[in-house]
Amino acid sequence: MTMGKSVTKAVIPAAGLGTRFLPATKAMPKEMLPVVDRPAIQYVVEEAVNAGLTDLLMITGRNKRALEDHFDREPGLEQALEKKGDQGRLALVREASDLGPIHYVRQGEAKGLGHAVLCASQHVGDEPFAVLLGDDLIDEAESLLATMIDVQQKTGGSVIALIEVDPSQISAYGCADITAIDGEDYVRVNSLVEKPAAGEAPSNLAVIGRYVLHPSVFGVLEKTEPGRGGEIQLTDALQTLAAGEGEGSGVYGVVFKGRRYDTGDKLSYLKAVITLASERVEFGEDLKTWMKGFVS
Ligand code: UTP
Repeated sequence: MTMGKSVTKAVIPAAGLGTRFLPATKAMPKEMLPVVDRPAIQYVVEEAVNAGLTDLLMITGRNKRALEDHFDREPGLEQALEKKGDQGRLALVREASDLGPIHYVRQGEAKGLGHAVLCASQHVGDEPFAVLLGDDLIDEAESLLATMIDVQQKTGGSVIALIEVDPSQISAYGCADITAIDGEDYVRVNSLVEKPAAGEAPSNLAVIGRYVLHPSVFGVLEKTEPGRGGEIQLTDALQTLAAGEGEGSGVYGVVFKGRRYDTGDKLSYLKAVITLASERVEFGEDLKTWMKGFVS
């Protein structure tokens, strides 16, 4: 029985085409877009490490070499900074490579998030594991991932993260039909539907880019046919697990109340940059003063 096996592995899919952010993403992965001064993906990897996950696997693809370079050492640059005595910038350069070794596997073709997760099956094996989407930023202060890991350990199923969105927005997300569980702060997920038409959505609870999954998801993904957009959808596999019975089935949801940004979306990306920049001690106050003038 898998329940009880602790969660140590994080899978970070970053192989999508990023078409919503063209032309910036023509030759550069969207996960490398800077949010203030770090690429978006660095916040995601830091979140995984801070949640205690020690085994990191990134799913990459064509055009994604910059991702591997970013998390690797850069001896030439480090030596140059050392020579100059610039310890501050040296520490910044080393931040990413100090996060620990990262494993990589390439998704040969962007066949969807479900297919990207399936690419991790050999590395993950028969253990529950976390999935963090490389373009989704979650406010660290909220320890969402740690809560989700606890719920997985308690239930032995799979756990998704949900946010409440305006009903007019739900067709941009996977949507969950849920039932509250007495005395618990997580919910049972009855069914899931990917990007429902407004009016057909079972709720205004949207699936966001954090998951803690039971390894039985791999067997389900292998049998999951391409769905919406011709892509193998993780949501479809989770729907099968939610409707199924027996070991590894059952999907639970943690409703997240904190801040979250989809950096693959231009407007959400800009909000992330402005919010995080305005909180920086070095220039946050100056930025806010400037913004007040700019807006008026
Ligand atoms: P998105 O839904 O944002 O898709 O993927 P996308 O293709 O990257 O971007 P758009 O919609 O064309 O702008 C959610 C996450 O799943 C990964 C992405 O890298 C992102 O982290 N993904 C998606 C893969 O790794 N492989 C895929 O085939 C699709």
